[in-house]
Amino acid sequence: MSIIENHRRPLPMADHVRGKRSAVTCQFKCANACLGPECNTSANQHFQDIASMALSRRALLGLGAAGAVAIAVGALRSTPTSGPGAAGTAGAGAAFGRPGTAGLPFEPIAPVARTVDAFTVPAGYTWSPIIRWGDPLFSQAPVFDIAAQTPEAQALQFGYNSDYLDILADPNGKRGVLVNNHEYVNPGIMFPPTSDPAELRRRGEIYKAAQGLSVVELERRRTGEPWRYVVDGRRNRRITVETVFELTGPAAGSALVKTADDPEGRWVRGTLGNCAGGTTPWGTILSGEENFNGYFAWAADTPGQRRYQASASTSTSTGWETYDPRFNAHDPGFVNEPNRFGYIVEIDPDDPTSTPRKHTAMGRMKHEGANVIVGQDKRVVAYMGDDERNDYLYKFVSKNKMTGSRKKNMQLLAEGDLYVAKFSGDSPATEITGTGQLPSDGAFDGTGVWIPLTRDGRSMVPGFTTEEVLVYTRLAADAVGATKMDRPEDVEPNPKTGKVYVALTNNSQRGGASSPLDEANPVTGNRYGHVIELTETAGQSGTTFGWSILLLCGDPSTNANTYFAGFPRELVSPISCPDNVAFDSEGNLWISTDGAPSTIGYNDALYKVPLEGPERGHVQQFLAVPRDAETCGPVIHDREGLVFVAVQHPGEEGTFAAPTSLFPDYGSSAPGDVPNAPRPSVVQVYRA
Ligand code: FEO
Ligand code: CA
Ligand code: CA
Ligand code: CA
Repeated sequence: MSIIENHRRPLPMADHVRGKRSAVTCQFKCANACLGPECNTSANQHFQDIASMALSRRALLGLGAAGAVAIAVGALRSTPTSGPGAAGTAGAGAAFGRPGTAGLPFEPIAPVARTVDAFTVPAGYTWSPIIRWGDPLFSQAPVFDIAAQTPEAQALQFGYNSDYLDILADPNGKRGVLVNNHEYVNPGIMFPPTSDPAELRRRGEIYKAAQGLSVVELERRRTGEPWRYVVDGRRNRRITVETVFELTGPAAGSALVKTADDPEGRWVRGTLGNCAGGTTPWGTILSGEENFNGYFAWAADTPGQRRYQASASTSTSTGWETYDPRFNAHDPGFVNEPNRFGYIVEIDPDDPTSTPRKHTAMGRMKHEGANVIVGQDKRVVAYMGDDERNDYLYKFVSKNKMTGSRKKNMQLLAEGDLYVAKFSGDSPATEITGTGQLPSDGAFDGTGVWIPLTRDGRSMVPGFTTEEVLVYTRLAADAVGATKMDRPEDVEPNPKTGKVYVALTNNSQRGGASSPLDEANPVTGNRYGHVIELTETAGQSGTTFGWSILLLCGDPSTNANTYFAGFPRELVSPISCPDNVAFDSEGNLWISTDGAPSTIGYNDALYKVPLEGPERGHVQQFLAVPRDAETCGPVIHDREGLVFVAVQHPGEEGTFAAPTSLFPDYGSSAPGDVPNAPRPSVVQVYRA
């Protein structure tokens, strides 16, 4: 079957058909993960049904009738004023909401209808792309031309489908570096259809070069201004499916990761599915290898490969398996190749010649990302989600302590203990009442334990070797009875408080046979997702925690079973499918979403959520991305009045001939612009 035929083959019923997410996202991003065996075991319930225990605990928090009318939200649903073309302007002025974070006051925008192809920002703000798919990182790269794209050009240009990003400013504030993940490609909207085998192979090589990461030098005249990227910047670098990575940790050198290319099991060519990530306190970037399984055809039908859904693929959307044996697990030299992906990778953005590393000590899963905080004992703790329905929440605690040596700190993630979370709902604490504010005695909705999978570099799971725990981490976590969660995405500690925020994006199976309701995942067929606030009760590196539900997402104007930490639901912005989280300098939570269009009918968005005081739970929409896009990688530099997001897969429901989005060039045919196709981009938002 040709790649093009692959693109067009009818898809079996997956979550996209059931109204969760786009069919295109399902196919290209996660290889229809929701068609896996577990997927078919549960009823397909779209209605909301909060578990009775959650409802009774809160008794709707004294907010009056369950069907509280969302007056303000309803009144806001007017067409945004930002239009295609130049930098956007404000959405409809909101009647509610208060000035936000000190350097970033805003009135929340109205939710933007899912058919609107515009990047929408609050009144008084504007936006511009910093860098777009195809923009040259090096002067040897040709001006981007979709009609003449080559693998060689793409390897010198900014990649596709931006996800995680961070911007690290140099001490002088005038230079900095942008690091950005390129999670996957959307062949159907990148180029016109073809069935020519030579062209298909050339395209396959373009896709390899369009994935991975970009490191890009930035500059500006003074602190607080928006950034420009620098062609030929000292730190500019592309990392692709061909870049060599070093394996670290106990599974490096194991028989499970050896291939014909790498008989020692120490060096892996390429990184795949780079989704979210985190920036370490020592200034390196972590990137999660998430949906790696869909790039391999014919992986062995073993429990290990089945558990990661690698064995399900007999062909892939990139076609790499047709000419590159690494991606054909039928090839006897490469049966272990899938085991070499699914790690947290660490990149030093300051040294473009450095060898990036994959840390086996942090386990192998569909890593959304990893976020590090330094514990009271100076060991570093990384929180990680495995983004699959009914998969788990993990943390890694380094063996060694953070020091003043960057070189030593760069070894911290190679050695340590790996844990998986088990949540209990029978809280010894009091019920939440009244306004929904947690009592000041720190009462929780429940408690939990971190179950060790490895300690001191050794397996803690009976029947599993250390290598097996770290390569087939999901199987090890199954064996110790971890709590099945509703697709853990970004998991990030608040630098102000150390509390950890877990974005659980949705789970169509929740309440079915494979994942009954529990107090931490209390919504049947969880369509809109929720956010848990986790508090370590024995120090950051300890093994016990308390937890509370912070948000049960949805559109409160149509869904009474929403919850916003007790904040009046009629005053919040509708929000659905929380994905990435970030914090501003005051410790407010920011949430970006992936799935609002198909669940609440609005474009995906970015929201601010205060966590302390009377505003706790007041979800306020800051921006909306264009049609068919997902909001990724939020970075909040509120002291400079700057917000950054990645716009991933704009226009993915369209075709090359009939695009549904023209973001961000919107018809411009200036050199380097693309008038008639969408381009995933990193965008900055700033005062108009
Ligand atoms: Fe790539 Fe879990 O989103
Ligand atoms: Ca994500
Ligand atoms: Ca984050
Ligand atoms: Ca996502």
